[in-house]
This record gives sequence, structure tokens and C-alpha cells, in this order.
Amino acid sequence: MDRLKHVLSSRQFDLGFLINLYKDTRLILNLLKTREGRELLTHVLPGYVAGEMFWQESSRTYHSFAAAAVRLGMSTPPSERGIKKIRTEKGKRVTKWELVFSSEMKDAYFEDEVRAWASFYDVLILRTAEAGLVSRAAEICDEFGYNVPFINAGDGKDGEHPTQTLIDLFSIFAGLDLDIEKDWPKLKDCSIAFINDLKNGRTIHSLAWTCGVVFGMTLKFISNPDSGMPRNLLDELEKKNCNFEVLYSLAHADVFYDTRKQAEYGKKKSEQPISIDQRAADEYGVKIVMHPFPRSKAGNELPIWRKNDPATHSVSLDKDPRAMYFKQMEYGMPNRMALLKYLLNPYLDLKKLQEEKLIRGIKNQCAGCNRIEYHELGWTDNPPKCGYIQTLSHIFCPKCQPHN
Ligand code: NCD
Repeated sequence: MDRLKHVLSSRQFDLGFLINLYKDTRLILNLLKTREGRELLTHVLPGYVAGEMFWQESSRTYHSFAAAAVRLGMSTPPSERGIKKIRTEKGKRVTKWELVFSSEMKDAYFEDEVRAWASFYDVLILRTAEAGLVSRAAEICDEFGYNVPFINAGDGKDGEHPTQTLIDLFSIFAGLDLDIEKDWPKLKDCSIAFINDLKNGRTIHSLAWTCGVVFGMTLKFISNPDSGMPRNLLDELEKKNCNFEVLYSLAHADVFYDTRKQAEYGKKKSEQPISIDQRAADEYGVKIVMHPFPRSKAGNELPIWRKNDPATHSVSLDKDPRAMYFKQMEYGMPNRMALLKYLLNPYLDLKKLQEEKLIRGIKNQCAGCNRIEYHELGWTDNPPKCGYIQTLSHIFCPKCQPHN
């Protein structure tokens, strides 16, 4: 596979790309554990600026990208956030999302807005209500020679959410205790059930492809009849000889991937979603339960645990080891850090970052004992194993001063 310039669809991900990205994600997770590691990570992308344009609402995707960028040393100026407007057009209620502070409100061309952003930012992260709009933005900029990667952070109900797939798959490997590098063939003996709003769930449209096509997992699409997987996606999976079933009630699977009803798209009310609780998890022998979040209060497809409400304690999976959804949420930031690094500073070796940082911090070397003087630490008795470094200025350290 060629290096990815933009991240637009899960169809772009192959095994090699995933293995490498997850290696960096694991290294980043480790570095994030210590203050020193967190400081080191800020040396990955200093001087770069990320732009986030989110027409649609977001908590996890927006903040995890923003935090990921800052933790890598990037800057993220205040971004564009859209506002949902419900209008009546020709007697029909229509939901639209508008970037209310942008020139979009002055009837600007989309092309001109995109070119403006691409002139100012090093990477653009877009969430739109319209499927295909992020790809269009990337095409426009490629056509006019801008060297800016675009990331699709969710494009409408018929589109995709490829970076959520990266997080979800990382969580599947972690939750099933599998190491992608050596255990990836084992996934083809595992099944994943996608549950509830499969029609409008862009996270599912992206993840099902990777699970089915790249890893050969058995896919089970479980929903009410009016919320099933779009026919064109099922046709695509069929063409790729994926093993899948369309079901209308819960069934066994190793992984449950639960979703909420996407009520914001204003479709008519459907039946109550299937609720994944302790009883359902026991009955169907699921190993891990996932959810891209947000889970919905009204739908209650994934009941919450509340300290002061003992009735929730025997129902909710929140404190159950099979609940992978909080970990899945936490993996968002390190995974997106790995992705930003991949796009903007791909050849930086995270393992060597420590060494490189130490070398950057060197001021002098002692001509007598080879000890190193650091800008911040002064003379140290534990120099990196570098011997005599020709490029450094050589002076005598206090111990080796000739008059001593
Ligand atoms: C999802 C989205 O926006 O597509 N959330 C997310 O990004 N983690 C799912 C949803 O909104 O239901």
C-alpha cells in the first residue's frame, strides 16, 4: 500500500498499515504513563497546526483529536463548530448543520472555504453531515496543489468514520487479548455483532468492512427491520466473500458492537432498541461489549450504572470486565496521536525519541573524561553511550580542569 495522504475511508486500511499504527499507539500509551514520557511526546510535532472543522456535534472525536494534537506539541487554534438547525422546507422538517461563524453563512463557495483552511493549517480534521464531503474537500486541495492531509472524522449517516474504526479495532485486539502482529489470523475465527441502528451508523459502515474484508471475521447485523444495514454495503461485503448474517434478534457473538438510534437525522420513531445488559451478555456468551458512544438516555441500548440507584447494579455492564466501551473511548487519544504522527512525521522513531532529545539537550563534552554537559542538567556522570562526539565543543569539566 502507498503511504496514505488523507484518511477518508476504512477501505484504505490494510494489515501492514494497522500493525504499524498500533505499534506506535502502544508506545504512545506507555509514554503517556509518565510525566517524562508526556514531555517527550511534545517533541513529535512541534510547529505544526491542526484545524478542526466540525459541522456536527461531537465530544469524543473532537476532544480526542484536539488533545492528541496538543500532546504531540502541535497547536490547535479555536476551531469551527456547527450548529444544528431544523427548518421546514416544502412542508417537510429538514435538519441542517451550519458553521455559523464561517463565511459559509455569507453564501461562500465550499471550494473557497476549503482552500482557505488548507492555506493556514498543516492537517484538517472535518466532520460533516454530508457523505462524501470530506473526500471532496481533499480532492479540491489536491487539485490545486495543497499538501495538507484531510481526516474524515465522520461524514453523515451514509458516510464513514474511519478513525473510529482504527480505535475500535485496536480495542478488539486489546479486549480479546490478541497481539495484532502475531495473532491477526485468529480474528477470522471470531464473530462481531453490530447492534441497533445499522442504517445510519457510520461507525458500523466503516468497521464492518475492516472486520469482514481485512480480517475475515463473521459479521452479524442485528437490528429492527427498519434500521438494517444499507443494501449497497451488504452487496459490497458479499462481493468480497465476507461471511455475514442479517438477524432481527440478538444472537451469540464474541464481540457486541452496540449503537444508539441516530435520532438527529429526524427519521420517524422506530421500535425500542435492543438493550445490552448483564442478562443479554450472559445469555449470548459475549466476550467484550463495545459502543462508539454517546449512548442514549432515551434509547437505553446500554444501561448506565449509578451508585445511588441499586436497581442499575444488576443490569448495567459498566463495572463488568466484558465492558470494553470505556477503554475504547480512552484509546481514542493515543490512537489519534499515532495517526497524526503517521501523517505529519512518519519517519520519526518513537523509540529513539528519548535518545534524540538527550542529544539535542547536550551543550559540551569534556576533553578529559568524555562526560557530557547538558543545557538543563549540567555535567552528568551517566552520559548516553556515545563516547567522544566530534561535533561538540570540547572543554574541561570541573573535575578535569588542568589546575586540579
Ligand atoms: C459516533 C459518530 O458521531 O458517528 N460517535 C463517535 O464519533 N464516537 C457515533 C454516534 O454519534 O452515535
